[in-house]
Amino acid sequence: MLALTTRADPPHVELTEVPEPQPAPDEALVSVRAVSLNRGEVKRLPTDPPATVTGWDVSGTVERPAEDGSGPPRGARVVGLVQLGAWAQRVAVPTRTLAALPDETTDAQAATLPVAGLTALYAIELGPPSLLGCKALVTGASGGVERFAVELAKRAGAHVTAVSRNPGRANGLRELGADAIVHDLEPEGERFDLVIEGVGGASLSAAIRRVAPNGTVVSFARSDEQEVTFPTSALFRDAPGATVRGLYVFPELQRRAGGGADLARLANLVASDELHPRIDLETSWREPRDAIEALLDRRIAGKAVLRVD
Ligand SMILES: NC(=O)c1ccc[n+]([C@@H]2O[C@H](COP(=O)([O-])OP(=O)(O)OC[C@H]3O[C@@H](n4cnc5c(N)ncnc54)[C@H](OP(=O)(O)O)[C@@H]3O)[C@@H](O)[C@H]2O)c1
Repeated sequence: MLALTTRADPPHVELTEVPEPQPAPDEALVSVRAVSLNRGEVKRLPTDPPATVTGWDVSGTVERPAEDGSGPPRGARVVGLVQLGAWAQRVAVPTRTLAALPDETTDAQAATLPVAGLTALYAIELGPPSLLGCKALVTGASGGVERFAVELAKRAGAHVTAVSRNPGRANGLRELGADAIVHDLEPEGERFDLVIEGVGGASLSAAIRRVAPNGTVVSFARSDEQEVTFPTSALFRDAPGATVRGLYVFPELQRRAGGGADLARLANLVASDELHPRIDLETSWREPRDAIEALLDRRIAGKAVLRVD
């Protein structure tokens, strides 16, 4: 079968012939229709061992159901998540990270959901038990994860402030539910019950200074790799009881027995027009260069999707 495998030269992937995947008993063989690009996997392409079949997010059709009888049947349209191997014509997906798709959710929409949608969902679930009437702040809000976070936080009843440094890329955030959009996060100002911090570095430093007493900062990004500094009084004196929590989606999925049910929740929200993946660029996997470069250069506002055609 064909797959996008890593290589040293830009765009750091090429379409090559690779062996078929060999599913374990609890894995379904999925014929891939679309994949989405995530900053993390794209950033590490140059340092991955050459000839690796990479990729996390996948949508497609079940070609062979799992031997142990778990998961959707043959022919079902599905969305799933793997730690390696999604950028291929076929991939073995553990059924605990696989969900059947409603007819209304397209393959491209579904492919945006696994890493980005689940990270946003879990960031919100690490916050207060109810967001109704709470103040939420989302940094890096033009990004793939953060657009989902804006919309999910608004749906949960929060007043949402979005930080996006580039007015052009902030396009569409109001429609997703952002009540306020700011281009820079000042270290002083209104405080937030939940901060979904999607940038790292100076943005996380500023965010910690803006958390409310008993509030939560969820940190999951290092797009900005600078070290984080803040006066300790920003927490113990100005926000007693506040916590800073780290979120890494893969161990979080293990803790939650796979995340398949959560993927189904997200896919159903898309189907009922309550969650709106923003696909800024969709192209064939035969021409991945533009999508990869655009993501790394921060020219994508939302998600980039490759059709596996
Ligand atoms: N821990 C986890 O499990 C997990 C899971 C998913 C993603 N992530 C990480 O979370 C971050 C967001 O993911 P994503 O898919 O939403 O990425 P993305 O689509 O590239 O969005 C990141 C956003 O951050 C903003 N940003 C601000 N300062 C930046 C900087 N110095 N470098 C790069 N971007 C900067 C950019 O918006 P403006 O330039 O418009 O302000 C950009 O839209 C990434 O770092 C990703 O690797 C972590």
